[in-house]
Amino acid sequence: MTASTATQSADVVAALLFILSLAGLSQHRTSRSGVVFGACGMALAVIATIVFASRDISGTAVALIAVAMAIGAGLGLWRARAVEMTGMPELIAVLHSFVGLAAVLVGWNSYYEVEARGSAQTAVAADLLRIHHAEVFIGIFIGAVTFTGSLIAFLKLSARINSRPLTLPGKNLLNVGALVAFAALTVWFAVSPELGLMIAITALALLLGLHLVASIGGGDMPVVVSMLNSYSGWAAAAAGFLLNNNLLIITGALVGSSGAYLSYIMCKAMNRSFLSVIAGGFGIEAPSAGDAEQGEHQETTAEETAALLERASSVIITPGYGMAVAQAQHPVAELTRALRERGVEVRFGVHPVAGRLPGHMNVLLAEARVPYDVVLEMDEINDDFAHTSVVLVIGANDTVNPAAMEDPASPIAGMPVLRVWEAGQVVVFKRSMASGYAGVQNPLFFRENTGMLFGDAKQSVESILRALTPRPSRTAEPDARSPAAQAASAH
Ligand code: TAP
Repeated sequence: MTASTATQSADVVAALLFILSLAGLSQHRTSRSGVVFGACGMALAVIATIVFASRDISGTAVALIAVAMAIGAGLGLWRARAVEMTGMPELIAVLHSFVGLAAVLVGWNSYYEVEARGSAQTAVAADLLRIHHAEVFIGIFIGAVTFTGSLIAFLKLSARINSRPLTLPGKNLLNVGALVAFAALTVWFAVSPELGLMIAITALALLLGLHLVASIGGGDMPVVVSMLNSYSGWAAAAAGFLLNNNLLIITGALVGSSGAYLSYIMCKAMNRSFLSVIAGGFGIEAPSAGDAEQGEHQETTAEETAALLERASSVIITPGYGMAVAQAQHPVAELTRALRERGVEVRFGVHPVAGRLPGHMNVLLAEARVPYDVVLEMDEINDDFAHTSVVLVIGANDTVNPAAMEDPASPIAGMPVLRVWEAGQVVVFKRSMASGYAGVQNPLFFRENTGMLFGDAKQSVESILRALTPRPSRTAEPDARSPAAQAASAH
């Protein structure tokens, strides 16, 4: 078997493993096998590339590759073991930035190998040279946008910079202008590949990536992360063309298209325009900060909340990012058991973007052994709040913000939310009056039927557990639901 046939065979097997990996990752049940398929495919791809390429390169180069891989693998293992579940999106954003940077470096390297030396010294046929020029340019452009875009996403997700959207005057014009300039420069470079144009496109793309992601508000960040995932795939595919590596082209296309599809699904779930989000918030002009005076909030205590829960006939718990930060899922599961033993109906309402990752809350609740059948999606439970005695909002904020429905000028206007305020009584567990991830004030906290239970969510839930009066079975108690809710359920 020739080296080329062996490489192609390894590529086909690795590509199949990547497809199986994506199929496995699409379902919770099969996700572990999806990860194993992906890891096997990547190991095969790397080993085959090194083994077959090592015939043409020096021993020193192979040794350098081995050292680079050892350092990378060491760092990767360390970060993967150390990262908290809540820190996962920012880690993913940093990893996307590496793919973008790699694509930029591959583009520049290819420029020096081909364009800068002149076609006579290279294996590239003259009639294909213009295509190569365009590939270099496109690869660098996508890579640089992915690089700075992912860095800004990392800074926003890790709260190192404000998550509010940057709204420069004429921001849409700036984005469109950059795209037009890219198209014009690509044509110019294809005709005359000069160093100055390389520098110009790199600088333009770095600035565009920065501006695109900075223009997107915190509430839309989940979509941005999956969009950057998609961009990193296209950047890898572009690098594959330059390196003449078929597997990199296939893998890049798989990542690019699956990331784009995930972004589309998330946009639909959050009632956002897909095109607007991928174009850096195109069409969304300076939103109001939503910081208008809201009035007074009322505080409650763990003891009062325990008494309220004992009187309730039905309870819905809406968990959010704060439950993950406090690691409150285990006491929350215990509270669920304690209330169910008292005959109280307890269910969970999970918003599609609660937390910081798709499925974040479901994973935490499953880990704490909350039965699946009481964990409902937003659309399944939203109509039930009006007939519910008590809602416990545990570390959630943006996902239960009525401004999304009631204030068209709010940065999160139109985002579907859990309508918790329709319940008889709402208890919000958080540490302060601080805003949520999107940086928007939440009018829920000031409603008459809302009590704020300040403190770490885990400690608050544990205090409620201690305050519950020990009683084996539920006795008839007054219904804590609002008169409207009682009347509704009576019909
Ligand atoms: P957030 O709006 O982020 O609110 C979380 C709340 O938890 C905060 O108001 C915070 O208030 C409270 N909190 C933090 N630590 C706490 C602790 N130890 N004990 C008690 N409370 C604590 O959460 P959400 O409602 O889950 O909304 C998710 C947001 O993240 C959305 O804007 C969404 O777009 C965005 N996002 C989601 C994803 C995905 S895919 N899920 C990815 C990126 C971004 P205090 O500081 O006052 O305690």
